[in-house]
Formats: sequence, C-alpha cells, structure tokens
Amino acid sequence: MKKLLNTLVETCRPYAEQGEVANYIPELAKRNPNHLSVCVVTGEDEVFYAGDYQNLYTMQSVIKPMLLLVALMDSGMERVRGLVGVEATGKPFDAFNYSDQALTVANINPMINAGAIALSTLIKGKTSEEKFQRLLEMTRKVAGNPNMEMDEMVYLSEKATGNKNRALAYMLKAYRMVDGDVEDMVDCYFRACSVKANCIDLAQIAYVFANHGANSKGEQLFPAEYARYVNATLITCGMYDGSGEFALNVGFPAKSGVGGGIMGVIPKKMGIGVFAPALDKKGNSLAGIKVLEALSQELELSIF
Ligand code: DON
Repeated sequence: MKKLLNTLVETCRPYAEQGEVANYIPELAKRNPNHLSVCVVTGEDEVFYAGDYQNLYTMQSVIKPMLLLVALMDSGMERVRGLVGVEATGKPFDAFNYSDQALTVANINPMINAGAIALSTLIKGKTSEEKFQRLLEMTRKVAGNPNMEMDEMVYLSEKATGNKNRALAYMLKAYRMVDGDVEDMVDCYFRACSVKANCIDLAQIAYVFANHGANSKGEQLFPAEYARYVNATLITCGMYDGSGEFALNVGFPAKSGVGGGIMGVIPKKMGIGVFAPALDKKGNSLAGIKVLEALSQELELSIF
C-alpha cells in the first residue's frame, strides 16, 4: 500500500499545475499549490501515507460531515431532517440565488453553506464559541487526535470576508428557518471551517464513518444510523455540483473543501484523506481527485 501511495503522489502531483489555490479568502491564497499528500486507514495500526503528509491545512467544508454528525447527536434525526433536506442542489456551495419559492428545507442540504450554517443552530451550546468547542472536541475524538486546533489567521480572514455567508444566514432567518443571532451563527461556521488537519486526520475521520461510527480500536463513538445519514448525503452532495461526476469516476462517499482536502469513505473497508490545495473550477482539489480516481481503480473501491 505504501508503495502504491508513493507512486500515486508522484504521478498525480503534476495535475496541480492545472488548478488554482482558493483566493477568495486571502489567507488561503498563501498555500503552496504543489503540495500533495494522501493517507489510507484500513484498521488499527494500518495507517499508510505518502507525500507532504505532515503539513496542516484548514478543513474548510470537510468539517461539514462532522457538523452534521454533531447536530444529529445533539438534536436527533427528526429535527435535523426537519431543518435541512438531503437533495443535491446542482449549484455551487455558496450559491444564494434562491428565489422566494425556492428557499425551503427541501432545497438545502447539509453539505452546502446554507445547510451547514442552519445546522450549527442544532449544536449544543449557549454561544458560538461553546458550540464550536463541542464540534472541535468531537472532531478530535473521531480523528483520534487531541491536538487539533483552529487556525486563527484563517478564521479572522474568513470572518473579515465572509459576507456571502452572512447573507445566506440572514436569508435563512428572513424565511424563519432559523432563529437567533446571525453573527453568532456564522461565527460558529467560520471557526469550524478553520480547523487544521493533515491527510491522516481526514483518513481517520473517514474511517470512523466507513466503520459505521466505530474507530479502529473498536470503540463505538456514535450510533451507526448517524454514519449512514452522513454517508448518504456525501454520495449525493459531498463534492458540490461535481458529485455526479465523482460518483461515476470514483464511486464512494466523499467530502471536499476549498483548503484542498478530500475525505473518502469506503463503507466497511477504509478511510482515505488527501490534501492538495490547487482546485478545479468547482472548488475540488484537482490532484486530490486524480489520486482518488487512481486508488479507486487500483483497489476496486467503487461501491457501484
Ligand atoms: O464558506 C466558505 O467560504 C468556506 N469557509 C468553506 C468553503 C468550502 O470549503 C466549500 N464548501 N462546500
């Protein structure tokens, strides 16, 4: 496995040249576009990695499955499903061209910004900081890494420039889908996106979702039905408006983020984490997708 990963990093790294590092958040633009790292977890002490695997990046939207999980744990399936739908939108992650008719529960999902911001209101905690702390603790637990932290500079950069997300939160509030202070809502979301991780953390998190809530030591961290909920939304909505193409070419639940991370969940088999900051036009890591495509072919990972 280690040899395969080393080869894939070498053959896929050049694809990064065709992409661009996200620059709409100034702090993200500083990342090296040529970095590429990958990790595969298949069980306890079965952790394989290659490339720049020690480098930390912000999780960005790869935190959304965790946010959904904590909302499920804290408020239950019925409340989560009653607030945010599960259908693909076919639109970019930050789209806000909802018409009066279209901004409804059925038309948002947990993997787009509007859905994630709405779900942050279902996490326990009085303030955005308490909610975030709860999310961070659970993320550390699932990743098996107590050292995970927020990147302060990226957080401040998101906060300074995240007006589209504020607009989304105001629309959710205007349509009475959420209650509470908008700045508080987006603050929890900005903090969540700024959590730092490497490809090993992503692979460990993916492994727990793949293993229906149990980590590689066999500890059940959350109910299996929540893993099924999260994995189902990943297959239809996890790769933004590129989810269909990804299902066809790669074939397993996955979530990407504009920091260049992707986590891949292969049910009952493995968790994969990749980081490569240069993105394609839809905001997915270009070299990262190439690695996942090759891995899927080589190890026959498509679930279809
Ligand atoms: O909302 C944003 O702009 C970012 N903090 C997260 C974006 C991201 O990775 C795309 N999400 N689906």
